[in-house]
Amino acid sequence: MRKPDHVFDRLMEWRRLSEWAEITDPDIRLGVISGRRRQGKTYLLRALVEARGGFYFAASESTTAVSLREFAESLAEHIGAPAPPALNDWDHALRYMYEVIPDGLIVIDEFPYLVKASPALPSQLQRALDPGGWAHRGSTAQLLLCGSAMSVMGGLLAGNAPLRGRASLEMIIRPFDYRTAAGFWGITDPRLAVLVHAVVGGTPAYRRSFVQKDVPRSFDDFDDWVRRTALNPDMPISREARMLPTEEIAIREPGLYNAVLAAVAAGNTTRGAIAGHIGRKETELAHPLQVLADAGLIAREADPFHARRSAFRITEPLITFYEVVVRRHWSMIEEGYGDIVWRRAQDAFLAHVVGPHFEALCRRYARAHGLEFLGGLPAEVGAGVVSDPANRTQIEVDVVVLASGLPGERRKILSLGEAKWNRRMGVGHLERLRRARDLLTAKGYDTSDTVLACYSGGGFDDELHAAQEREPVHLADLEILYGIR
Ligand SMILES: Nc1ncnc2c1ncn2[C@@H]1O[C@H](COP(=O)(O)OP(=O)(O)O)[C@@H](O)[C@H]1O
Ligand SMILES: [Mg+2]
Repeated sequence: MRKPDHVFDRLMEWRRLSEWAEITDPDIRLGVISGRRRQGKTYLLRALVEARGGFYFAASESTTAVSLREFAESLAEHIGAPAPPALNDWDHALRYMYEVIPDGLIVIDEFPYLVKASPALPSQLQRALDPGGWAHRGSTAQLLLCGSAMSVMGGLLAGNAPLRGRASLEMIIRPFDYRTAAGFWGITDPRLAVLVHAVVGGTPAYRRSFVQKDVPRSFDDFDDWVRRTALNPDMPISREARMLPTEEIAIREPGLYNAVLAAVAAGNTTRGAIAGHIGRKETELAHPLQVLADAGLIAREADPFHARRSAFRITEPLITFYEVVVRRHWSMIEEGYGDIVWRRAQDAFLAHVVGPHFEALCRRYARAHGLEFLGGLPAEVGAGVVSDPANRTQIEVDVVVLASGLPGERRKILSLGEAKWNRRMGVGHLERLRRARDLLTAKGYDTSDTVLACYSGGGFDDELHAAQEREPVHLADLEILYGIR
């Protein structure tokens, strides 16, 4: 099955889906696709149904009676029946569906809406899929359930849920990776690509209607592009970050969730710091942090050197941008003073948006491409803190890469790296990394093959280039990060 040209990238997803869709084993009948809104699930599945043949139904948020009627109408239209059947309940609907769709693919999109109105649907589906159920009386069709409500989709196959163990395909459609996103936006200047990715991330929908397809023409056009899009109250993208949390999760206390996101965006990465920032007890934060993580809006990243220390980070760049640049100045932006807001936000944008974003991007590079410049497969990548008691200080290492640990062996550090977005890096940075390496050696880590890495958006001085001749040093500029060179 050939992937249509209008579907950008998604090569791996397409391969797995199209192979799965061709299977005709009676035990392999159910797949589950999830992922945050606007990542291209529907886009991909519609293309797949077109290529494979089959039935696509998108549920809407409604009552069971209305959904059943819509389902019946869609099926009737699909098979060319003169009138839609009267379907009494979902059990009846499933029976009818498998009767009239003998093969190919069946996609039920926005499945969580149906479950919300009819909580028994998953167990009715389970019975249909069990041996002797509706799915096995003459049909070989493969069923894909799709949805954005991560809590529902995750719960579908979890614990003692009826469909647990039934799905033979589980796939999450994620935002485009930073390199893919640059390609999708048609941006070839990596400096511009980093900035645009720091604002809109890798969500495909954000390059279409959300910005009216406005793409910055060049690096010099970036400021104006921000004013034309993210700081333009007429553009949907300017309101998106505010809607995201409430769209992704059924939030009862939006104020608390917003405060948590604002705290993390402001650089509070531990639970204690977040609690202090918003004036709540740490214990009260366990639930909202978990919910935000399940929804894919924040992630908890472990410090590779401290099993119990971890950092919370916002995974959706648009939210960080909103919290740092937009939120407190929204009324000014709405009145059309986006240019003033933007001019005054420059320092904050650099320090709290691009800086941390660049570090995360370098970690992503090390994870995905580390094998190309390191002496082993990266098993764990994170930011780590090394305490330096002699100097009464702590060394923060932006990009730590560890090999997988074997029991009883010293843990091997593949790389220690520092990332700087807008500064030319020199041997001083290297010296700091050497110090961290020596401290870690003393702590019992295997640093015999550790590559010291400098990631820079502002280049490297001659001395640093020369250091490469003497010891294992990796200098990654933007072209290397983007695989251009
Ligand atoms: N792989 C892709 N190639 C091109 N455009 C895409 C791709 N994925 C998503 N899009 C764009 O993003 C929009 C939103 O995608 P959609 O499938 O509706 O997201 P979801 O179903 O995950 O909420 C699409 O209408 C399309 O314009
Ligand atoms: Mg969709």
